[in-house]
Order: sequence, then C-alpha cells, then structure tokens
Amino acid sequence: MRVFVTGATGFIGSYLVPELIKAGHQVVGLSRSDKSAEQLANAGAEAFRGDVNDLDRLRAAAETADGVIHAAFNHDFGNLKQHSEEDRKVIEALGEAILGSDRPLVVSSGTGLVRRSKTESPATETDGHFSSAEFSRAATEEAADAVIAKGGRVIVLRLSQVHDTRHQGRIAQHIKFARKKGRVAYVGDGQNRLAAVHVTDAVTLFKLALEKGVAGARYHAVGEEGVPMRDIAEVIGAGLKMPVESITGQEALDYFGVIAPLAAIDLAASSSLTRRQLGWETRGQDLLTDLREVDWTAA
Ligand SMILES: NC(=O)c1ccc[n+]([C@@H]2O[C@H](COP(=O)([O-])OP(=O)(O)OC[C@H]3O[C@@H](n4cnc5c(N)ncnc54)[C@H](OP(=O)(O)O)[C@@H]3O)[C@@H](O)[C@H]2O)c1
Repeated sequence: MRVFVTGATGFIGSYLVPELIKAGHQVVGLSRSDKSAEQLANAGAEAFRGDVNDLDRLRAAAETADGVIHAAFNHDFGNLKQHSEEDRKVIEALGEAILGSDRPLVVSSGTGLVRRSKTESPATETDGHFSSAEFSRAATEEAADAVIAKGGRVIVLRLSQVHDTRHQGRIAQHIKFARKKGRVAYVGDGQNRLAAVHVTDAVTLFKLALEKGVAGARYHAVGEEGVPMRDIAEVIGAGLKMPVESITGQEALDYFGVIAPLAAIDLAASSSLTRRQLGWETRGQDLLTDLREVDWTAA
C-alpha cells in the first residue's frame, strides 16, 4: 500500500515509518524541514514537503495514497485549543480525500479523552469521548466522527502514554517538577493510574489498524492498563536520588501548577477489544523498566 504519513518524523512516526516499510508498504512522509526530509530518505521513505496546515497540499498528498496515517500534532500546550481546532481542519481535509473510497484514514487520539461509562473501570473502546468544549483536544475525535458520519473509513487509534527509554510524554513534566522542587510528589495514596504502551507495540497497532481497521472503529493502544502514579514517582525518586512523598490535592496546585488536575486523576484504559478484533499482541518493555533505564544524568 502507498501510505501517506503525517508526523512521520515525530517520536511515534520515526518508529512507524520503518515498521510500515518492513511490512512491504511504500511510505510518503510529510516533512517540513531538510532535516526531516533527510531522516525520511534514510529510512527508505519518500518526503512530501509541506506544513500540515497547508490543507490543499495535504489533500493532494492524501488523494494519491492508498491509505493515510495522521500522527502530526503541535504539542505546544500553551495553545492547545488553537492546535486542536487546526487538527479538526486537518482531519476534515484528509477525510475529503478518502471519501467515496475504501481507503483507510487512521487518526491519533488519546485514551485520556474517553468518557468512561463506569468510572471505576478502565476506559474501553466502546466508551464515548469528551466534547471539545470540555477538553479542546477532543476536537480530533469529533472531526473523526464527522468523516465517519459521511461514510469515510476513519479509524481512531487512541494512544495511552507511549514510551521508550528516551520519551515518556507527560512523565517528563513530573521529572521537571521534581528537579525544581527537590522531591518527587504523588497525590493522595498515589493509586491513580496511567495506562501505557511501548512505542514498538503502538506502531504495530497503527499498522494493523491501517491494514485491517474497520470504518468507525476505536482501537486502544494500551499495553498496561494502569501503572500507579506512586510506583512511577518511586522510580523517578530512585533515578534522581530524591525523596518521594504524598501531597494533598491542595498542595498539588503549588507543586504541579496547571497540570495538578492531571496528576490526580485515574487514567486506566483497556485494550481487550482491540486485541480480540485485530489480533494485536504487545511485546515491548513495560513503563517502569523503561523509566529505570532512563539516562538520569541527562533527563
Ligand atoms: N506520545 C504519546 O504518548 C501520545 C499519547 C496520546 C496521543 N498521542 C498522539 O499521537 C500523535 C503522535 O505523537 P508523537 O508523540 O509522535 O508526537 P511528536 O513527537 O510531538 O511528533 C509530532 C509530529 O507532528 C509534526 N508536526 C507538528 N506540527 C506540524 C506542522 N505544522 N506541519 C507538519 N508537521 C507538523 C512534527 O514534525 P517535525 O518532525 O518536523 O517536528 C512531528 O513529526 C499525536 O497526535 C499525539 O497527540 C501521543
């Protein structure tokens, strides 16, 4: 399959492109710099120069592909609402390119955007999602819904915390705050959880979703349903050689600042249905092992 990939040189994309090529696909990656074009060429992919918000160019690239994986996103969280609304337009444009065909469009979302039907249970694939009025990043899920409603073969891949030994997403924030405060904190009993997936398993799921994904499906890239925040804090403490302590929700406002609500919530998620429907299996290293292997002198 000729696959157009946005975000092809990001954290996930740089694992995804070789995985797709190994599986026999021809990859065209969106590239906005000489450096990323070179990275794609070295991986054996073709570079399509452009910005993801240049919607005419984007549509043109998607129209010549047999399938599209959209993994680009601007993670400047200071302007999350703006970037989420831009993502809505990107998905609309990619959707226009695949409508009227059976060509798949796989979009990247997050398990944190799922509105759990049972708050005590992990988020499931059949659960709905928050609205963009509640969480601006949910614009992605809403945009996917709109293309699905028009008959497009859109597949939503909801990612949990993706990790290797160099990248652990929001955990970088916890490490940053610990360095700043000289101690590692978790909220309450620290039993609130974070679902996680090794990046090599996440990209296997992207490939399966592209090849076998059913229109309108939600798949969960979850290797571990929930790693307690206290366990994560203890590994950070060991790495940084700092004390680890419980703080109250009120103290979290001072310690974690704007991410305080996130630090306290439970983000467990399940992938049972995804595994059953796509035959997906996970083999990657677990989150705490990856964290223990972080280069703490550089982190
Ligand atoms: N990593 C996680 O734990 C996680 C969890 C949940 C959801 N997700 C979602 O999964 C997707 C991929 O995540 P990631 O971790 O791989 O993100 P990332 O490392 O930040 O990569 C983002 C990619 O988007 C590209 N991009 C950003 N703005 C662009 C623009 N204006 N024009 C063209 N390209 C642009 C970047 O291009 P350059 O390479 O040129 O910088 C990069 O390739 C995102 O939608 C993300 O929100 C990730």
